[in-house]
Amino acid sequence: MSAKPSLRRRLAVSTAVAVLIGLGVLLTDDPSRREPPGAPSPVPLAERVQRGAYLATVGNCAGCHTAPGGAPYAGGLPLATPFGSAVAGNLTPDRDHGLGAWTADDFWRALHHGRGRDGRRLLPVFPYENFTHVRREDSDALFAYLQSLPPVAQPNAPQALRFPYNTALALAVWQTLHFRPGTPPPASDAPEARGAYLVNGLGHCAACHAPRNALGAQRAGLGGGDMPGQGWHAPSLHPVQGLGVTAADTVALLRDGQHRWGTAAGPMAEVVQRSTQHWRAEDLQAVASYLAQLPAEPLRDAPAGEGSARLLALGAKLYEKHCADCHGAQGEGAVDGSGRMAYPPLAGNPSLLQPTARNLARVIQEGGFAPSTAAHPRPYGMPPHRFTDTELAALLTHLRRSWGHQASTVDEVEVLRWR
Ligand code: HEC
Ligand code: HEC
Ligand code: HEC
Repeated sequence: MSAKPSLRRRLAVSTAVAVLIGLGVLLTDDPSRREPPGAPSPVPLAERVQRGAYLATVGNCAGCHTAPGGAPYAGGLPLATPFGSAVAGNLTPDRDHGLGAWTADDFWRALHHGRGRDGRRLLPVFPYENFTHVRREDSDALFAYLQSLPPVAQPNAPQALRFPYNTALALAVWQTLHFRPGTPPPASDAPEARGAYLVNGLGHCAACHAPRNALGAQRAGLGGGDMPGQGWHAPSLHPVQGLGVTAADTVALLRDGQHRWGTAAGPMAEVVQRSTQHWRAEDLQAVASYLAQLPAEPLRDAPAGEGSARLLALGAKLYEKHCADCHGAQGEGAVDGSGRMAYPPLAGNPSLLQPTARNLARVIQEGGFAPSTAAHPRPYGMPPHRFTDTELAALLTHLRRSWGHQASTVDEVEVLRWR
């Protein structure tokens, strides 16, 4: 007998041992524990609580951490993801079910390192890919605010992700591949720096507006992304040449839920409703100036697709019959008696010209309301419509090719793919 098999066996055994040690390290190593404890905050508690209340609105923490009709911040809202459903837990200072036993260091580890109090890796549905860029003093203020809430003894439902996404190993691999704790920028009052801090950090705009890879991790930038599992596209936040959207328009959209060309719809209407309409004027201005200086993208004109003449003729007829009463024969929209926008104009409306017509299809089918804001407390609603695939493709093509629009046409196959 040669020594070869035993050598091979020894090699196999040592490889297996190395893999097991590697897995063990991957599963148990927690660099966040090696960070020295934070210094006690020099900011008086009352001031921290007040700052934290505002920051919680900026981060829209209640949006995910409150069940419909439930106590604020007590958790329980299931969030749909392509990997199953995730639940955002109880953030009130209840000792058994909330953050009652947490320290400011535990809280920082959650926001900055994506780790639970017990070192558990947290699901990235919690947008710590963005919150990791939040400064420690803001984390401390958020924590002080949450600890000032009345405790609510509401137990957390278990996470319901599908196998294998529900395993500690899957999260360990995900975090190792896709997540690095950020380096929060130093505090600055310069508008663009403040805007970048809010957009990329607490405002977590990238959570929807960044492209994502197949495992749901955010790619860099704000170039637009499909919202996983929700059928909405959050468009690029770069300025588009030729659309003429100004920083003042962006401020109006975030504050009032509408600007001179259109309204915030779907998930963005919720963001405005719960969060951005309450932001300070200088913070909205900072965000708008930061977005305005991102590299501009060209408006991509597309040639008319095959069969579009047939779709255009049908689309024009459907528009006349179902839409023109509100949006105007020439897509000019309409104002109400007090001069406020009642029905948004569709001619020149940037949301009609996006690279994908997916959101348009949803708005037309589902209808909806612009958010209710101080400037528009009772916005008019858009009724839902039922159209066949051909009719919907025809209407979308009409909207994207009329009034000087040159966006891509839409056919039945594409509509079918979205359904
Ligand atoms: C897009 C939805 C979403 C938003 C917005 C959000 N969270 Fe969460 N959060 C979650 C989910 C989901 C979890 C559960 C993650 C897990 O258990 O792995 C979570 C977990 C947490 C945890 C860990 C709790 C624990 O028991 O381990 C903390 C702390 C937390 N969030 C704080 C915040 C704060 C503060 C904000 C606002 C600045 C915020 N979250 C905004 C979805 C969200
Ligand atoms: C009863 C009046 C009414 C009718 C009819 C109507 N709409 Fe609307 N539409 C509205 C209102 C009000 C809004 C703003 C609320 C919103 O964004 O959900 C709106 C919003 C929209 C938007 C989103 C604009 C933006 O800026 O995001 C599109 C696109 C649209 N309508 C297309 C249509 C089409 C196509 C039809 C016909 C199939 C139609 N609407 C029929 C009232 C109407
Ligand atoms: C929960 C997902 C989500 C988050 C978070 C979010 N957005 Fe959006 N946003 C959308 C979607 C979806 C749309 C497209 C619907 C529409 O046009 O209203 C949109 C549209 C917009 C538009 C209009 C773009 C256009 O070309 O018409 C602006 C501006 C915008 N968002 C800014 C922001 C900013 C700034 C933040 C962070 C403070 C943010 N969004 C956070 C989902 C989101």
